Amino acid sequence: MPETVEAGAGHHLDRVLTLEIARVTERAAVAAAGLRGRGDEKAADQAAVDAMRSELNELMIDGTIVIGEGERDAAPMLYIGEQVGRGGPKVDIALDPLEGTTICAKNLPNSLAVIAMAVRGSLLNAPDVYMEKIAVGPGYPAGIVHLDRTPLQNLRALADAKGVPITEITACILDRPRHAQLIETVRQTGAAIRLIGDGDVAGVIQTTDSEETGIDIYMGIGGAPEGVLAAAALRCTGGQMQGRLQLNTNDKRARAETMGITDPYRIYSDSEMASGDVIFAATGVTDGNLLDGVRFYRDRIETHTLVMRSYSHTTREMRARHYDRTKFNL
Ligand code: FBP
Repeated sequence: MPETVEAGAGHHLDRVLTLEIARVTERAAVAAAGLRGRGDEKAADQAAVDAMRSELNELMIDGTIVIGEGERDAAPMLYIGEQVGRGGPKVDIALDPLEGTTICAKNLPNSLAVIAMAVRGSLLNAPDVYMEKIAVGPGYPAGIVHLDRTPLQNLRALADAKGVPITEITACILDRPRHAQLIETVRQTGAAIRLIGDGDVAGVIQTTDSEETGIDIYMGIGGAPEGVLAAAALRCTGGQMQGRLQLNTNDKRARAETMGITDPYRIYSDSEMASGDVIFAATGVTDGNLLDGVRFYRDRIETHTLVMRSYSHTTREMRARHYDRTKFNL
């Protein structure tokens, strides 16, 4: 086993890792896709977790999971604090082997296998609570939207910067009762809403290519782990995101404190949630408007993956044909 080293001169990650992590999400996506549409969320999630873990353990990294499947007692694998890899640069890892377990179980659009990796100490160690989020894609002035402004102020500013009326803006919001007021307020502004059943990592990433996806802004409350993953993606694409943890009980505030979060009301920017050199990969499990889902053929399996790096802002789409099905235990 090679000697453990720091993440590289100037704290940049080895760029080979950008390609290596694609294997990790590919393998998790294939495992989950084998259970697409079976109505069994747990089985699909477990398959993705097992697959992601075994591929992560092949990487030449000294990895620590900081955003994972939960705390050790609740998650037998890929738990927060788990060490992965064969040794190498010290990196922190945020992952969601199956983002959108329900959409995978129902075979609906946009479930993904997702991972972000960063130089040690540069990902927010967020507890598994909710996070209020707002995100827009690249090309807008810094601070164009803010969590402390009203939906009308944010949507108007965005529409003005885009040079369109508010009626031509589309916001992506999770379809949840907690968003009833937000949905009503956004509709009153004249903006359109794309309501999604699940999967707000994809929801945020879709703002980065609004011409293709039709989504200009993401708003609302979703999971904090998914918030950190989405922030890592946006660091690579150049959009803007803010997140505020929803620490509304003493228990949650105490848990957050043990993770180093002392101000429960703090608004984190994308670069505070994922600082330094970050790499990100997502492979489609089900078809979506970001990525195609896994395809099974008689002689091969095909996957569609997005890999990105913040340092160079390089985004790669990888379509892989896997002829060796034994690799996937199929
Ligand atoms: P899972 O993959 O864990 O099922 O999460 C799906 C998801 O929709 C996330 O994308 C989102 O952040 C979160 O759940 C929202 O939580 P809730 O379903 O409790 O509203």
